[in-house]
Amino acid sequence: MMNEKYAPLFKTFSFKNGVELKNRVVMAPMTNFSSNPDGTVTDEEIQYYERRSEGVGMVITACTNVTANGKGFPGEFAGDTDDMIPSLRRLASAIQAKGSKAILQIFHGGREVPPELVPNGDVVSASDIPSAEGKPVPRPLTSDEVASVIRDFGEATRRAIEAGFDGVEIHGANGYLIQQFFSPHANRREDQWGGSLEKRMAFPLAVVDSVKKAVAEHADGTFIVGYRFSPEEPETPGITMADTLALVDALSVKNLDYLHVSLMDFWSEPRRGVEDTRPRIEIIKERAGDRVPVIGVGSIYTADDAIKALETGVPLIALGRELIIDPDWVQKIEQGRESEIVTKIDKTKQKELVVPDPLWNAIINSPGWFPGVE
Ligand SMILES: Cc1cc2nc3c(=O)[nH]c(=O)nc-3n(C[C@H](O)[C@H](O)[C@H](O)COP(=O)(O)O)c2cc1C
Repeated sequence: MMNEKYAPLFKTFSFKNGVELKNRVVMAPMTNFSSNPDGTVTDEEIQYYERRSEGVGMVITACTNVTANGKGFPGEFAGDTDDMIPSLRRLASAIQAKGSKAILQIFHGGREVPPELVPNGDVVSASDIPSAEGKPVPRPLTSDEVASVIRDFGEATRRAIEAGFDGVEIHGANGYLIQQFFSPHANRREDQWGGSLEKRMAFPLAVVDSVKKAVAEHADGTFIVGYRFSPEEPETPGITMADTLALVDALSVKNLDYLHVSLMDFWSEPRRGVEDTRPRIEIIKERAGDRVPVIGVGSIYTADDAIKALETGVPLIALGRELIIDPDWVQKIEQGRESEIVTKIDKTKQKELVVPDPLWNAIINSPGWFPGVE
């Protein structure tokens, strides 16, 4: 029997569009490096998702590139052509068959793409600023190309709809193309897509409009659209909390189903841009108010971590690494077995955990990334 203390995790949640999630736990988007070279999903990848889709209310997939030159990782599955629809459908159905809603994360890697993964090694971004010393110097997108990438986000959304996904998440976080346009570090443009805060917001908002237009044309009113962002960049110039709160205001009037704040630590505090010293998630949640629900994420490992996070008032929490470490996390709490939750990678359990080799190798060879790997 479930410990009453954890009951809030199992309250259903309804989006404004009426779609209901069976509980408050979401699987965070995680790249797994395990798709076929042609961009289709592999059996191993499908099994990995099936293993993790029974407990949670909603699974957000790994990011998929909307354009060939947006591919950010080896073994990333593609969403940039109609040929990929059967592959996308396989993924959506596998997740849904286990009882979870399936959300496709759509993205463009921008200046972060490895040149060998994109046609002609042509790395593009808002401007010609590399993300760090030694990284490729990107080629600024022409204004025609900017318009084309915006359309590509709409096209990928149409494919998600045709493949049967319950929604898409626009990946505006973690330093990729959408964030690059919002960033005063990456974006030094002087046209309609850069300069003032408003102009840096123009590309993210145009992508939202393009996605919403595809939904209006191809889906019914129950298709979910979320937007993920990273609240701050460490460098100066860089995105500040003040910039992000302006973005939250702009996104809040776009009739989105949720905002998702990308953080490694749910409780992290602002670096700059506001006087407020409360955790970023609380400030953002307050700003979004009743306009749009917010998903919080970051280093939630135990049932108590999750309850404490929900007590901030965010309606939904996402778990990333912990669902790789323990795919039965939700079920254990539901059955009163929360003391059996595993919070460190057990290096002998790859098979039981159903983690494809490329993801497993990345985890065990990256000290400090996952608890249990020093
Ligand atoms: C293996 C791995 C792959 C990830 N890939 C993505 C991704 O494709 N898209 C994304 O928005 N975030 C990605 N993230 C970030 C997670 O969604 C999440 O924000 C982060 O891991 C913090 O949550 P956690 O502490 O519960 O893992 C990835 C994280 C991990 C560990």
